[in-house]
Amino acid sequence: VFDSGVGGLTVVRALRRQLPAEDIIYLGDLARLPYGDKSAETVRRYSLENAQFLCQQQVKLVVVACHTATAWSLQLLQERLDVPVVGVIQPAIESALAVARKAIGVIATRGTISSGVFQERLKQYHPVQAIACPLFVPLVEEGLLDHAATRDIVRHYLEPLQQVDTLLLGCTHYPLLSATIAQLMGDVQLIDPAISCAQAVARLLTELGQQNGGASKGTVRLYTTDRPPHLNQLIERFLGEPISAELI
Ligand code: DGL
Repeated sequence: VFDSGVGGLTVVRALRRQLPAEDIIYLGDLARLPYGDKSAETVRRYSLENAQFLCQQQVKLVVVACHTATAWSLQLLQERLDVPVVGVIQPAIESALAVARKAIGVIATRGTISSGVFQERLKQYHPVQAIACPLFVPLVEEGLLDHAATRDIVRHYLEPLQQVDTLLLGCTHYPLLSATIAQLMGDVQLIDPAISCAQAVARLLTELGQQNGGASKGTVRLYTTDRPPHLNQLIERFLGEPISAELI
């Protein structure tokens, strides 16, 4: 599993629930975070390097836990790697389509929104409203999940989404704001892509006959490309377990 930082650990958390016996290797590219404001070319280059690092560890499948990396590089990785590659966007789209009745809202980084991937795939089924919310990532990383300032900023970004009945949280960090978003949006279905992605990985491994059904609990190995002072705190917030990371 790789992500631009620690946000993708929410996908690891969901994978641990869905596939408890699997061993997971995670790479968080903290030295080059954020991906959300970078060009498509740069995100593709970083994603390929991250995936190659994972393939050197003999993984059987690669999960792109970052939405921006999925938007810009999933196809490239699927062409270049010898193992199956699963992203976070298509499984989330399928979950949204399963519950949406009228319009679907998508919130994500600037990069993901400007790629148009969500909008292109959803618009054939439902009207779509897509909004970039660049301040959400730093708010979550600061732990301001239920702060008055966060509520104001959430209101500011989500105000235009009056007509939607389903809201896709299209960025690793946004599900941590679910409670605040739900309070402000009222009767709207929130889609957490981490859960949809873990279910898609489980289905694919079963199809390929590669799911580890063993009884012993799988291991998690974490690697990061930088070690910010509050790294351990961030890992625990996103993963829900205190696991230390190795710097590469
Ligand atoms: N992981 C990114 C995503 O899901 C958010 C953080 C970043 O901008 O790198 O799009």
